Amino acid sequence: MAVWLAEQVGPAGHVVATDIDTRYLRRLELQNLEVLEHNILEDPLEALGPGSFDLVCSRLTLFHLVGRQEQALRQMTKCLRPGGWLIDEDADWGTAAPVDPAHPLYDGYRRAWQDGDWWTSRGYDKAFGQKLPALFERCGLQDIRHEAATEVVRGGSPWARWWAVTLEVINELGGGDESDGRELEVMTTALADPTVWVLRELLHACRGRRVGDTA
Ligand SMILES: C[S@@+](CC[C@H](N)C(=O)[O-])C[C@H]1O[C@@H](n2cnc3c(N)ncnc32)[C@H](O)[C@@H]1O
Repeated sequence: MAVWLAEQVGPAGHVVATDIDTRYLRRLELQNLEVLEHNILEDPLEALGPGSFDLVCSRLTLFHLVGRQEQALRQMTKCLRPGGWLIDEDADWGTAAPVDPAHPLYDGYRRAWQDGDWWTSRGYDKAFGQKLPALFERCGLQDIRHEAATEVVRGGSPWARWWAVTLEVINELGGGDESDGRELEVMTTALADPTVWVLRELLHACRGRRVGDTA
């Protein structure tokens, strides 16, 4: 997103990309891209320039911040100039499972994943994406529009490989025991198998404008 935005605004524009972990962002060397280490919940907004941005865009970050999403959105809103747009992309993860009940790996994956409660029990909000429009409204944003999209892909596809690694990392962070390891293996085996068709997460995109000029 940082690179794409830098391309869109052109040489006269300016993009600021922030994260608490800028390891990957720092590799990007673009003239109109500034990379800043910044915690949206804890660091002062002065480092970013409150009230100055035409667009603030965040993706797949808020679902990490369970219970503090509204606080983070309010901080992002403060960064916008009046009339500027806030966009957040976040998902419903419960859908991420095989779709063909006749496949021998379907039941095992579904039993382990439990419509995403495997994720809930590890501290994540599995259905956060659908809460965005109500949250945007509470933060005072206007002209709110919300869309969601997903697709069905094969095991072994780039998404399936990314999802398997994500599950492994989440399991490791939760200190997964032996039975967690077995559940994980059932899911990663299905995700590596090209005969398994998998519905991805439902990716929500919500946008809203800070009250002020319509320009
Ligand atoms: C799933 S990754 C998404 C990364 C990127 N936005 C993307 O869409 O590919 C979540 C990111 O949120 C960052 N993050 C978590 N808590 C944060 C916070 N309080 N402030 C800023 N970034 C945070 C993490 O370091 C991580 O890079």
